[in-house]
Amino acid sequence: MSSLLDSLSRFYASSIGKKLLVALSGLALIGFVLGHMIGNLLIFAGPDAINEYGHMLHTMGHGGLIWVARLGLLAAVVVHIVATIHLTRQNKAARKDAYGKEATRVASSASRIMIFSGLTILAFVIYHLMHFTVRVGNEYNNPALYTAMLDGQPVHNVYKMVIDGFSWAPASVFYIIAVALLCNHLSHGFASLFQTLGLATNKTWPLFQKAGHAFALLILVGNCSIPIAIWLFGYGR
Ligand code: HEM
Repeated sequence: MSSLLDSLSRFYASSIGKKLLVALSGLALIGFVLGHMIGNLLIFAGPDAINEYGHMLHTMGHGGLIWVARLGLLAAVVVHIVATIHLTRQNKAARKDAYGKEATRVASSASRIMIFSGLTILAFVIYHLMHFTVRVGNEYNNPALYTAMLDGQPVHNVYKMVIDGFSWAPASVFYIIAVALLCNHLSHGFASLFQTLGLATNKTWPLFQKAGHAFALLILVGNCSIPIAIWLFGYGR
C-alpha cells in the first residue's frame, strides 16, 4: 500500500505526471461540454423535449446518478486546476537561473491566455450553477411558476427557466462572452491534450490543431445559438 502511494506521489511530482492529469481531466471536461451542449440544444425541439431531458437527468438511478456525475465533474475540475497550478509553479521554478532571477521572461502568450480564460470559465460556472442549478435570486424554484405537465406528471419547467433566464440581456451577454472564452481555451487545450497523450506527431500536429479549432467552433455556435435566439430573436417568448 505504501509503495503504491510512493509511486503515485513520485508520478505526481514529475512534470509529465501532472501534465497527464491535466490532459485526462481536460478530456473528461471536453466530453461533458459536448454532451451538455447537445442536451441544451433540445430547447429548439420544444418544451416537452428539454423538460423530459431535465426530468430524466434528475431521476435516473432514483436520483443518485446525477450526484455520481456531479462528483465526477467536480473531481475533474479540481484535478485540472490544482495540477495546472502545480505545473505552472514547477515550470517557473525551473526557469529561474542560478541567481534566482527569471532566465526567460517571456511566458508564452497562449499559456497566459489559458490561465485567464480558465479563471473566467470558473467564474462563469459558479454563476451558471447559482443561476440554473441552485436557482438563487430568482423565482425558478417556485413551483407555482415553473411547473410543466409531462405525460400527466408535474415536472420542473426547464424550458421556461432557460427562456426567462436569457430574456434578461446582461445574462445573455455574460454567457456569450464566457462561452467565447471557453472556446478559446478549448481550441488551445484540445490539441495540447493529444500531444501530452503522445498521439500527436510533427506530421499530425496541424491536424489536431485544426480539429481543436473545429471543435471549439462547434461548441461556440451550439451554445451561443441559445441566448442569441432567445434574447435577440425572441425565441420562446
Ligand atoms: C448557453 C449555454 C448553456 C445553457 C442553455 C445551459 C443550461 C443549463 C441548465 C438548464 C442547467 C440545469 C439543469 C437542471 O438542473 O435541470 C445547467 C447545468 C449545468 N451547466 Fe449548463 N448551460 C449552458 C452552458 C454551459 C457551459 C458552457 C458549461 C461549462 C463550461 C455548463 C456547465 C453546467 C454545469 C456544471 C451544470 C450543473 C449540472 C448539475 O450538476 O446539475 N453549462 N446548464
